Amino acid sequence: MRILSFVVVALAGLVLSVSLLAAGNDKPRAVGSMQELMTGIIQPTSDAVFYVSRTPPQSDADWLDMERQTLMLAESANLLLIPGYREDGERWLTDVEKMRVAAEAALKAAKDRDMDTLIDLNNDLYMSCESCHEAIR
Ligand code: HEC
Repeated sequence: MRILSFVVVALAGLVLSVSLLAAGNDKPRAVGSMQELMTGIIQPTSDAVFYVSRTPPQSDADWLDMERQTLMLAESANLLLIPGYREDGERWLTDVEKMRVAAEAALKAAKDRDMDTLIDLNNDLYMSCESCHEAIR
């Protein structure tokens, strides 16, 4: 009896996961608009890097916050590749990659508590935003 109920539960789980797959629940999909992603996540998290010399992290909590901001920024490069945000063309992919590389380097610098590198990365990060915005204009 116990085995039977185990089988029933296992089968129910299988049916559920198959129908979730069929519904496309294994695929990422955009929740916000491009404008919301830019102003809600990418702009504030990149500002943390752009204004780092104005308000330098001092305590461990400040640095931890910088780690979180740069992680969010780097992960949002992945969001720019999912349906709903992604746009066609090589240029899009190149610019997303530029943003990702700069943000990942900023995350590493935050983990290393390396202020100089964070300041140096400002330019690369800024260029990634500008390059994509220029291309879509
Ligand atoms: C790969 C492309 C791409 C990259 C990289 C990119 N953006 Fe954008 N951004 C867009 C697109 C597309 C829009 C237009 C959204 C709209 O208004 O429809 C936009 C719009 C914006 C806006 C204006 C939103 C509004 O109010 O209309 C801001 C602010 C912005 N981006 C900030 C940034 C910053 C800061 C970075 C770099 C850290 C960045 N973006 C990197 C594609 C990109």
